[in-house]
Amino acid sequence: MQVIVGKNPKAVGEMAASLFIAQLLRKPDSVLGLATGSTPLPLYEALVRARQAGALDASRAVTFNLDEYVGLVPEHPQSYCAFMWKHLFADLGFRPEQAHLPNGVAGDLEAECARYDAAIDAAGGIDLQLLGIGHNGHIGFNEPDKAFSHGTRVAELTSSTIEANRRFFASEKEVPRRALTMGVLTIFRARGIVLVVTGAAKADITLAMAEGDITPEVPASVLQLHPNTVLIADEAAAAKLRR
Ligand code: PGA
Repeated sequence: MQVIVGKNPKAVGEMAASLFIAQLLRKPDSVLGLATGSTPLPLYEALVRARQAGALDASRAVTFNLDEYVGLVPEHPQSYCAFMWKHLFADLGFRPEQAHLPNGVAGDLEAECARYDAAIDAAGGIDLQLLGIGHNGHIGFNEPDKAFSHGTRVAELTSSTIEANRRFFASEKEVPRRALTMGVLTIFRARGIVLVVTGAAKADITLAMAEGDITPEVPASVLQLHPNTVLIADEAAAAKLRR
């Protein structure tokens, strides 16, 4: 795992954006894996600025998001689909067919998970996958577990994740309890991975993920084995790294 430290979240966003811009220059029809949450926002803002400056053309890109809540229609303001259109897709001039998210209101959720993995394969696999990390080490909604998960699946959110995500909802009761998420293996199969992490509250998990044991109890630790992962952390999140 390559580690890059930026001064603050804005610097992290700009460095991560430059990797995505370079990817699209090399391969304009890249398949990109994307993520929601607060950490990617400076990156998305940097991509939008790059497009406005004429430095980014994403018109041939295809994207697959990591996850979506079960039970929220795409139009729901807290759905990850709505998040992506609000923070990135609309401002990049995306056409609807460019962007893929799991369908959290599919009648048959298991079939939807299989369809999602098949769609990623049919697109040629993910060239560059963006990840954030949860305070408990989750990637996507792959929470600490006894084994690393495989393909896209239905996941139960842990209480700590429900608590972390309640800030986006009127009350904790409204936070969905389940999500569809790419599995750890789906993520691991991406040819390149960019993991962004910011803030002192994530310094412990950044250390555990990058330098601790590789264990499903810290799902992101598997990225130590990935041949092409870049961790971009701000100084606060990187403060406890030793290597
Ligand atoms: P955050 O979420 O960027 O909002 O902290 C990251 C995650 O839970 O994966």
